[in-house]
Amino acid sequence: MIKRFMTLERHIIEGERKHPAATGELSKLLSDLVIAAKVISLEVNKAGLMDILGYTGDNNIHGEQVKKLDMYAHEMIFKAMDHGGHLCVMASEEEEDIIHIPDAFEIGKYVLLFDPLDGSSNIDVNVSIGTIFSIYKRVSPQGLPGTLEDCLQPGLKQVAAGYVVYGSSTIMVYTTSNGVHGFTLDPSIGEFLLSHENIRIPKKGRIYSINEGNYKFWHPGLKKYIKWLQDEELETDRPYSSRYIGSMVADVHRTLFYGGIFMYPQDSRNPNGKLRLMYECNPMSMIVEAAGGRATNGKKRILEIVPESLHQRTPIFIGSVDDVNLVEEFMSEENNNQEKE
Ligand code: AHG
Ligand code: MN
Ligand code: MN
Repeated sequence: MIKRFMTLERHIIEGERKHPAATGELSKLLSDLVIAAKVISLEVNKAGLMDILGYTGDNNIHGEQVKKLDMYAHEMIFKAMDHGGHLCVMASEEEEDIIHIPDAFEIGKYVLLFDPLDGSSNIDVNVSIGTIFSIYKRVSPQGLPGTLEDCLQPGLKQVAAGYVVYGSSTIMVYTTSNGVHGFTLDPSIGEFLLSHENIRIPKKGRIYSINEGNYKFWHPGLKKYIKWLQDEELETDRPYSSRYIGSMVADVHRTLFYGGIFMYPQDSRNPNGKLRLMYECNPMSMIVEAAGGRATNGKKRILEIVPESLHQRTPIFIGSVDDVNLVEEFMSEENNNQEKE
């Protein structure tokens, strides 16, 4: 039997209709983003065939080498979003400063932050990569160009967040706080169709995800936690399995469905970890929390961090409530032990 099918666009519109004060603007903004996602998906799928792979030779502002597809995705999102009249400003992981709306176009009330392509080190080897986005309402006066202040809002203020994974199929997951929903792209008709309604993350999982190559540099509490996960005990489902793709978007996507924990911690070489608060951690945290999970930097809820700069990094522990609580306990216990010594 064929199930009633729901396109992503219709879902967004119907979701917004439930709010009496809604103007429909957020729906239009999200629909523009969907177009960018389709275009990027097409290009990612063709990547192996085209002369698009390889480095551009430039470094991005984080000093990392940028691949062509990163810039392509960045430009596609900008081009899809600059003229809709819904945004007042944008910011991208690939650009140092805030991105203004060109003079020729209308200025709106929303703010868009994005990681155009996440997991770019996986591009050449056909491993899942993705796009992450985060939407806020502006705080500066209406009608004028948006400002840095509009972009530097705590994650709690997000009105919507989502990501697209370009994997064995292309999936878009988004939330406006009212549930987390997943849509799979049917390439033959070019539509995202509702495939995962109201996603709920398990309260506890049995998978941990972290770059274990950095073990030597970790916090002692984190070392103990990982060793504890590897011990055998039936009642607590141990040992856990280890999975690490190296694309946050794909690692968190798996965590959302199977439960468990994804971590990118601080270490003695990188006291703030690696992942970016505004483009990666805030949107993924909004999604995971809306699905019933938790996200913390080890001491504080990610969504409550007041940002100081556009590209700031933060440690992150994100996933099932029980698993995130436990890693926090291991780390704070170790801190207490050290204080006593
Ligand atoms: P990006 O490709 O947007 O720069 O992000 C890469 C990030 C993230 O996707 C992933 O979780 C992390 O880098 C992996 O880092 P390590 O290689 O240090 O494990
Ligand atoms: Mn990224
Ligand atoms: Mn990126």
